[in-house]
Amino acid sequence: MVVNKGGGAICRFLIISIIVMSGWFMAPKASAEPDSFNGQLWFERCKVCHALTPGKNEKGPSLHGLFGRKSGTSPGYDYSLAMKKTAIVWTERTLDNFLATPKIVVPGLKMEFSGIPRPSDRRDLITFLKKTLASK
Ligand code: HEC
Repeated sequence: MVVNKGGGAICRFLIISIIVMSGWFMAPKASAEPDSFNGQLWFERCKVCHALTPGKNEKGPSLHGLFGRKSGTSPGYDYSLAMKKTAIVWTERTLDNFLATPKIVVPGLKMEFSGIPRPSDRRDLITFLKKTLASK
């Protein structure tokens, strides 16, 4: 009997460990560290309209040199009046705020994109953008 009780305790411990560990493995991905690969996947959506190459304006303006630049100033791009009137300096913080709800931050924006709801996805995308733009 004594042996059985001991075995039961070990068994319970193992079952609990397995439950805890599978919870860890299966948790939705929102790690503490920025995930540049997830950011790259998100950028696939931006890429439909935005290039990172200098001066390459497409449907949307080139995002080259974005960080530290004033909004609405990609040379040669025809911004909406709304964007021209907005005075944002693009930093991680202002970009994060903009990407959550672009059309609320800039009413009248002509960018057809509803936003990125999850904070960790925005952080990952911004990390990817910063890293990629730094090497351009
Ligand atoms: C369907 C096309 C489209 C998609 C998708 C899109 N954008 Fe845009 N974006 C635009 C357009 C058009 C503008 C210019 C808006 C205006 O002038 O009102 C713009 C403007 C911007 C600006 C302001 C640039 C500046 O020079 O001040 C930023 C930053 C931006 N987009 C980032 C993003 C990011 C990051 C994504 C992906 C998550 C994204 N956009 C997805 C079309 C798009």
